[in-house]
Amino acid sequence: MRILLLTGKGGVGKSTVASGTAALAAAAGHRTLLLSTDAAHSLGDAFGVEVGPEPTEVADRLFVQQVDAQLRFQQSWAEVQGYLLSVLDSAGVDRLAAEELTVLPGAEEVLALLELRLQVLSGAWDVVVVDCAPTAETLRLLALPEALGWYMQRVFPVQARVVKAFKPVLTRAAGVPMPGGSVFEAVERLHAELDEVRALLQGPDASVRLVLTPENVVVAEARRSWTTLSLYGYRVDGVVANRVFPHADADDWRAGWVDAQQQVLAEVEESFVGLPVWRSEYRPAEPVGVAALRDLAADVYAADDPLALPAGDGPFRVTRSGDATVLRLRLPLVGRSDVDLARKHDELVVTVGAYRRVVTLPAGLVRLEVAGARVEDGELQVRFRETRSSQAQGESA
Ligand SMILES: Nc1ncnc2c1ncn2[C@@H]1O[C@H](COP(=O)(O)OP(=O)(O)OP(=O)(O)O)[C@@H](O)[C@H]1O
Ligand SMILES: [Mg+2]
Repeated sequence: MRILLLTGKGGVGKSTVASGTAALAAAAGHRTLLLSTDAAHSLGDAFGVEVGPEPTEVADRLFVQQVDAQLRFQQSWAEVQGYLLSVLDSAGVDRLAAEELTVLPGAEEVLALLELRLQVLSGAWDVVVVDCAPTAETLRLLALPEALGWYMQRVFPVQARVVKAFKPVLTRAAGVPMPGGSVFEAVERLHAELDEVRALLQGPDASVRLVLTPENVVVAEARRSWTTLSLYGYRVDGVVANRVFPHADADDWRAGWVDAQQQVLAEVEESFVGLPVWRSEYRPAEPVGVAALRDLAADVYAADDPLALPAGDGPFRVTRSGDATVLRLRLPLVGRSDVDLARKHDELVVTVGAYRRVVTLPAGLVRLEVAGARVEDGELQVRFRETRSSQAQGESA
């Protein structure tokens, strides 16, 4: 089971490359699902057929699905939102502000990802290719499973069962409406399912590919995406440079563009060192239909296996050597001064620019203290050591 996500700036060719990659996988004999989480659905246009909210077969072993996120939202969040509104209301929060607080940012895309979980669990697929929304939304979407967990832990700080047991007392004492059992169930289910999605996307079988066009602004955004995706623990395993002008028979105007693109492409190779940079030619016509999309992808990957598992270490790991325990987080293209670090009990808060990740520390690190941190070879390394008091205890024991 292989999961591939394609993302990039608006209009660079995400849907085209995602479709081509899926078509290539199906042609190689894999049962393949191409899933769109983008509200502006365009996979139907790419394949030149009607595509619905259920997997639609467009070629042998190739199915396409455009998730109905609105429906998902109704099913999973409406009840919880109703309860949160009643709590905020009793706390005297203005209704309009309350509504803003209870709307989950990016909820549509997140709930579209719940569909990914269902499809993976179904066991019906060897490969799932996800055509994501443009970069900024996708990043938020990808980060949300963790953000939501954080939110839930604070909105519902007490375990459901405990609260249920004390329900009559709490209601009288605090004057806060207590959630009904179904609200708790809905929250717990949603939280657990989102956590599964996050685990799938950060797991060893999943990776993200960045699609870009050889233009400076587009490349700059792709670089930021690489950093941010890594920060959130997703593994980027390649770059597709799309709409590259062919060299042959260029008049002056085109020769100028070919040169400009070659310069940017050289920078792309330099920026994304360690990742394959695949190229996709600007075609004489829009690649529409299974055959055209498959041909495009065949040219892109050439001799490479488009489904190869990403090599090397994952973006997040803990290593031990001697007494030193080091937490390592891949942060490509980042220097020490770009990173801000804070420790809060069992959490490590890593901030890079406008993006923040709350890393829940593995159990073995919680009782240790941070001894130092550095950024080296595109990796944040946080060193942990025994706290003084536990060292003393160890000595006296
Ligand atoms: N290599 C190519 N050669 C010619 N046309 C292309 C190529 N790649 C993409 N296109 C065309 O460019 C347009 C935009 O591509 P596509 O829809 O794949 O971009 P996208 O990144 O998914 O856009 P959006 O951000 O709107 O979802 C489409 O009409 C597509 O057919
Ligand atoms: Mg698209």
